Amino acid sequence: MAIKKIAVLTAGGDAPGMNAAIRSVVRYATSHKLEVMGALRGWWGLINEEIKPLDRRSVSNIINSGGTILKTARCPEFHTEEGQRRASVTLKKYSIDGLVVIGGNGTFEAAHIFSNKYKVPCVGIAASIDNDVNGIDDTIGADTAINTALYAIDNIRDTATSMERIFVVEVMGRESGYIALQVALAGGCEEVIIPELKSNLEDVCHEIVEGNLRGKISWIVVVAEGAGKAVDIAKKITEITSLETRAVIVGHIQRGGRPTAFSRNLALRFGQAAVDCLLKGEFYKAVGLAGGKIVAVDFATAIKKKEIKTESLYNLIKVLT
Ligand code: F6P
Repeated sequence: MAIKKIAVLTAGGDAPGMNAAIRSVVRYATSHKLEVMGALRGWWGLINEEIKPLDRRSVSNIINSGGTILKTARCPEFHTEEGQRRASVTLKKYSIDGLVVIGGNGTFEAAHIFSNKYKVPCVGIAASIDNDVNGIDDTIGADTAINTALYAIDNIRDTATSMERIFVVEVMGRESGYIALQVALAGGCEEVIIPELKSNLEDVCHEIVEGNLRGKISWIVVVAEGAGKAVDIAKKITEITSLETRAVIVGHIQRGGRPTAFSRNLALRFGQAAVDCLLKGEFYKAVGLAGGKIVAVDFATAIKKKEIKTESLYNLIKVLT
């Protein structure tokens, strides 16, 4: 049966570029004569029937803004039978026969269970600053978050050098060290601590002391949030080295702001690909970029733990220090 009416939602943590993805879904779908509705606050919108029609004008002037005009939320209720049942009732009530969900692996996990149980044609669009969707090299928002964290690190370097201090900078990424590795390399940072690689803080301190003896006056240690807390690590470094250390948490600043051209263009291409998947009957997949191409990965694969290659980047960071 041909799809006539779709709903789009954004779920989980927002990522810069989600608005560009909504714009692309709405405009590409309407250009194929599909009706489009937007569910508000992710899965909550389907559960509570907070849903509104979207047309080409509803998505004007959002291509350059961070966040999501559909709002987003974490939704524990969608993990319950009752939550899913209510969401399916809303879809039936509005005669929605296709669903596009924009989010990360948590969103795809929920979509995988729901769409299989209620036989809802569903396609995902990979959007997460963490870039931790398995089978996908690049998600919407990761590039913007990296550039935001890099801006912070560049500023920190000015004061670190001027005041001859050590800085420990904590970046986001949940269980992934992807953002940390990327910014540590691009920011010329001396050390990076990520969950994927075992780090020994005593060894890090030893290097700092040795460097200090050689006249190296400032250090930036990047820590991925999944590997430790900047405040604790800074305290430990001061205890061991007796050198003045400051902690900075870049935090949610990384989640907002104008999406970079890379994040926007991924979003626009993913939106088109997701609608094409629905039109072609390719359901239960997440659209992303892999090997430089737009791909659609089964939800079952996308929600597995993603292994990122860390060693070569880590070694390069160390060699260039
Ligand atoms: O998944 C995106 C992310 O920003 C993670 O990097 C971080 O761990 C988490 O969301 C923070 O979630 P919240 O904003 O709900 O505290």
